[in-house]
Amino acid sequence: MSSIIYLAYLASAVCFIMALRGLSSPVSARQGNLYGIGGMAIAILTTLSLPQVESYSYIFGGIALGGFIGAVIAKRIAMTAMPQLVAAFHSLVGLAAVLIAMSALWSPEAYGIGSPGEIHFGSLIEMSLGVIIGAITFTGSVVAFAKLQGLVSGAPVRFPMQHLINAGCGLALLLLMMLFCATEAKFIFVLLIAISLALGVLLIIPIGGADMPVVVSMLNSYSGWAAVGIGFTLGNPVLIIAGALIGSSGAILSYIMCKAMNRSIINVIFGGFGSVAAATEAGAAKDERPVKSGAAEDAAFLLANADSVIIVPGYGMAVAQAQHAVRELAETLEHKGIKVRYAIHPVAGRMPGHMNVLLAEANVPYESVVELEEINNDFGTTDVVYVIGANDVTNPAAKNDPQSPIYGMPILNVAEARNVIFNKRSMAAGYAGIQNALFYQENTMMLFGDAKAATEQLVKALKEL
Ligand code: TAP
Repeated sequence: MSSIIYLAYLASAVCFIMALRGLSSPVSARQGNLYGIGGMAIAILTTLSLPQVESYSYIFGGIALGGFIGAVIAKRIAMTAMPQLVAAFHSLVGLAAVLIAMSALWSPEAYGIGSPGEIHFGSLIEMSLGVIIGAITFTGSVVAFAKLQGLVSGAPVRFPMQHLINAGCGLALLLLMMLFCATEAKFIFVLLIAISLALGVLLIIPIGGADMPVVVSMLNSYSGWAAVGIGFTLGNPVLIIAGALIGSSGAILSYIMCKAMNRSIINVIFGGFGSVAAATEAGAAKDERPVKSGAAEDAAFLLANADSVIIVPGYGMAVAQAQHAVRELAETLEHKGIKVRYAIHPVAGRMPGHMNVLLAEANVPYESVVELEEINNDFGTTDVVYVIGANDVTNPAAKNDPQSPIYGMPILNVAEARNVIFNKRSMAAGYAGIQNALFYQENTMMLFGDAKAATEQLVKALKEL
């Protein structure tokens, strides 16, 4: 490989690192995306200029077909369905790793890794590792997709000696890998693939729907390591670097999500090991206490008399696409001299950064959007909190009910505010399936209705005051 090619790959890798850095904050996310696109363009053009490329027709055909399908999906997909789309895409990375390792074993000369029966030892290790991670990623992602899409039940599937069987599969893979590296036998390679495919299913079925997004992020990490395996097989440095970046950032994101949802990362990696039960009977039981509910005019009166307001968006705002109405509400309040900020919980909605993306789309100024750690001490001195379509992320049970499935999860201290206006459509539970004591608090007023319609009525009522 010439030094120009290496330099171009280095430039592309630097772009990927800048992309990740940019994506770490909403302010620089757009720029981060541009760096990512630039890095990928350099990587593709450089790879196309390699002397090993014999024909462009298949490559351009693949790019055109894949690009078309990707564009159609990107246009149609609802933001709330993003986790399952990501899972579906990861399955393809895993499958690609398996297919490339297979073709390298069947035609090693084409990859410059030796000849049949005499493949370099290092390549055999890379190939077997790549195929194991790729196959686990493939079936694991397919199961995650099916659970998230509701094609199969999201409930954890458990059976006797499950962890023992998983451990047995892991041990068998290790032994077969050593045997394969010693003999280069194709049937052992096929056995490696078969057991890894089965292990992918076994690892994901015991994980319940509540942990699935963390699983998707973990599979994202696995797909990165699978790409590293492909990179070694193909001798492509940029694929190795990009794969390692995806692998490590996916692992870090999984850890952050586990912490924010009070889940065990060990549980996610080892397929449901020590997982907590879903909503307890007691937690999900219907509460018969009365709640105070009001109309948009009552809520507008409370807001108009406030000096400071915090808006807490959640999944319901995303479903209702109420972000534009929310921005209009904030602007209306600000015109009246009221200080307005948005409090963002790290797992509000259904994917990391979900609320930030929606608010940015509605042109909410970044400086008004404040993360949990920075704003949590301010609720006690805030006049009104407007909770729009959020639920679990405000539930005080996370602090004071050790039996609650969300106990230990950090929450927004909404309960401490002087007044709370709680918008949702009914008394139904949120994602965790548990009741929220905040609804029954003396200073809480429920504003029932769809988030968009209710907020629009609120704005109208405020303007009429
Ligand atoms: P949730 O606890 O899921 O509550 C959302 C609430 O929105 C529901 O109680 C629902 O009540 C209401 N809602 C639904 N549609 C609505 C609409 N059109 N208008 C108004 N309200 C509507 O949401 P949250 O507080 O954002 O918490 C997120 C939950 O998801 C957490 O438990 C978190 O652990 C979990 N989770 C998060 C992630 C990430 S990474 N963000 C990933 C996986 C899981 P009604 O039906 O009564 O309207």
